[in-house]
Amino acid sequence: MSTVLLVGGGGYVGSVLAQELLERGYAVRILDRLYFGDHGLTGIRDRVDLTVGDMRIVSPALLDDVEAVVNVGGLSNDPTAEYNPKANYEMNMTASVALARMAREQGVRRYIYASSCSIYDRGVGDEARDVLLDEKADVDPPGAYAGSKLAAERELLEMTSDRFCVAVLRKATLFGFSPRMRYDLVVNTFVKDALSKGYISLHFGGEMWRPLAEVHDAARAYIALIRADHKVINGEIFNLVYRNFRISELAMRVRAALNEIDVPVEIRTDYSYRGVRNYRVSGHKLDRVLEVAPEVTVEESVQTMVKEIRRHNYTDFDSPRYYNIAWMKLLQEAQGVIQVTGSVFDLPKGAKPLREVGS
Ligand SMILES: NC(=O)c1ccc[n+]([C@@H]2O[C@H](COP(=O)([O-])OP(=O)(O)OC[C@H]3O[C@@H](n4cnc5c(N)ncnc54)[C@H](O)[C@@H]3O)[C@@H](O)[C@H]2O)c1
Repeated sequence: MSTVLLVGGGGYVGSVLAQELLERGYAVRILDRLYFGDHGLTGIRDRVDLTVGDMRIVSPALLDDVEAVVNVGGLSNDPTAEYNPKANYEMNMTASVALARMAREQGVRRYIYASSCSIYDRGVGDEARDVLLDEKADVDPPGAYAGSKLAAERELLEMTSDRFCVAVLRKATLFGFSPRMRYDLVVNTFVKDALSKGYISLHFGGEMWRPLAEVHDAARAYIALIRADHKVINGEIFNLVYRNFRISELAMRVRAALNEIDVPVEIRTDYSYRGVRNYRVSGHKLDRVLEVAPEVTVEESVQTMVKEIRRHNYTDFDSPRYYNIAWMKLLQEAQGVIQVTGSVFDLPKGAKPLREVGS
């Protein structure tokens, strides 16, 4: 049985990918710091080989018998990367490259890196730059997150050889249900807002373009990269895109899908500028080279999402757990408090409760 190491295998993408790999008979090893808990591993916890640890400190033994490493770990959006650019760079760039070097030394044959279409972001306001971009496009991404992804890609793609295959998957913004749920991704946010508030908010008139893809389609693309002939993917970048949507069209599609299942929703639009992202990306190379074409529609995914959210009781929509930046800030604040209190409810180590003093 081939073993795949998933770095970040407890995350939004990682937990869906772990499930899909298990279904195809792979042995799945996971390295994850479990920042968001282990909900993502519900139902598969006893079928994966889990190491709870940090990708910045990896023991070579973790790579024993591993056929492929898929690195879907690290900080995974703009706000968390801007919040702590140092940690972001350490994880998304330095550790990702160091892990690839270690993998190569340990005889692992394949390393697949999770990158992002946000590398293509060109902002709003310059229509001449508003064109469909492919893997060959010149990129100069603003911000810590996309910058770290691009820097890692460049280092990693230098490492290819006949014996070590590196491929990069630049994923569009994902949508869909995952057992480690995120409500900070645009379609998922719309669904959450519809269920919790009855309306969807469109900023900047919703005129921005965004490439989108469903999370199971992302998992299937990774599996295609794990299975593909080395020569076909080695040193290659692939975009994963189902379709490009204006955010306003996306909102209307989400509303129509929700209305069909009797979830009423209103669309509220404001025209203020809020640092929006805007880019259109071609996913044709993945289809042309690997015959992988994302197929899950927004409408289908939205309806499944509602069912799964209800089935898993992920209806505590305000919980920071579902929003990466809110959760990371909360964890850091809690860490500061616990450094002072020692623990939450237990007494500090060695202390005796009052009633026992003198007894
Ligand atoms: N979700 C998307 O829409 C999207 C789009 C494009 C690219 N990506 C990229 O795909 C990857 C997965 O994204 P996601 O949505 O699953 O994110 P996620 O935040 O849900 O998952 C990341 C996982 O990595 C783990 N992790 C973080 N830092 C770690 C560390 N130092 N050591 C070990 N584990 C660590 C977390 O605990 C979490 O389980 C990320 O690299 C992200 O940048 C995601």
